[in-house]
Amino acid sequence: MPESFFILSKDHLELAIDEIISISKMYDRFTKAKIISNLVIIQSKTNWNEITKRASFVKVSGQILRKMSGLFLDEGNLEVLKNAKTFVCRIINLSEKQFNIPELENSMGDMISKFSHVKVKLEDPDITIYLIFTDEENFFGFSKLIKKNRPKKIKKYPHELDWKLTRVMINLIGLKKGETVCDPFCGTGTTLLEAESMGIHAIGLDFDEKMCDISKENLKANGFKSKVFNSDFQEFIKNSEKFDGIVTDLPYGISSKVSEKPEVILKKFFSVLPKRKRIAIMYKKELDNNLKLSGLKKYEIYRHKSLTRTILIR
Ligand SMILES: C[S@@+](CC[C@H](N)C(=O)[O-])C[C@H]1O[C@@H](n2cnc3c(N)ncnc32)[C@H](O)[C@@H]1O
Repeated sequence: MPESFFILSKDHLELAIDEIISISKMYDRFTKAKIISNLVIIQSKTNWNEITKRASFVKVSGQILRKMSGLFLDEGNLEVLKNAKTFVCRIINLSEKQFNIPELENSMGDMISKFSHVKVKLEDPDITIYLIFTDEENFFGFSKLIKKNRPKKIKKYPHELDWKLTRVMINLIGLKKGETVCDPFCGTGTTLLEAESMGIHAIGLDFDEKMCDISKENLKANGFKSKVFNSDFQEFIKNSEKFDGIVTDLPYGISSKVSEKPEVILKKFFSVLPKRKRIAIMYKKELDNNLKLSGLKKYEIYRHKSLTRTILIR
């Protein structure tokens, strides 16, 4: 079974780890994961670059070629350079040991170029060879440059949610290509843009016509076809046969217009949530104080001293 590695940003580590596991499991439910600090090793039929293209918090990723006890490579390990013209060596040290990393990278590069006749190129090489040190095991792997096409956002608004948190919510509920997501408080359309850029259909609602126009303009700028309706969330959500999951960021009552107090909207929203749909919702932490929530995975995202957000996943 192929093994891949993912070095994650430490900003939202729990979310980032769960996201990688969730994407891998979407296409191979027998995926196994091992976590060593901010390194996740995945054993899965899902290819590492498919996971990386979808993920929000990956800094470095690639395929593992083998685990190693020392620093020695044999020619068999260099098969991966067969069709490459250029490469670079990178050391990632997650262990307690101290290494002179530039020196090690240089000598590995020299050794590999002698074996393989492939040239070292520090910027944008065809292949990056990685040596990852941890206190438990060392890994030898490689990666190729992955092109990620980010959707454009031509119209912004102060209440918009950043794309990484939006994307992570879509991934945590495991929506696959061809499925449909609904964002009943779509604002500037961040969920719709992220979803459609991953091949997921999207439907957005907003009771503020101005927000619907902004969403539509953002979709149009990318040639996207997601639908946007100027409507209150309550009626549409009842038509749950039209979507597979809900991903949304509820109003905070600061920079967005609100139909009612944010805590009342949240309560009503919970009362109309369709039972058998996958759900990822975000809201200001204190808003759920009087609600009984059980059986849901909860994450807390600290932004600043007066804003901590909750993400709930079902
Ligand atoms: C926090 S913003 C969503 C931001 C969005 N995630 C983005 O990235 O732009 C909440 C949105 O909910 C909308 N809203 C407020 N009350 C609503 C209701 N009853 N039904 C539908 N939309 C509502 C507001 O107009 C606002 O655009």
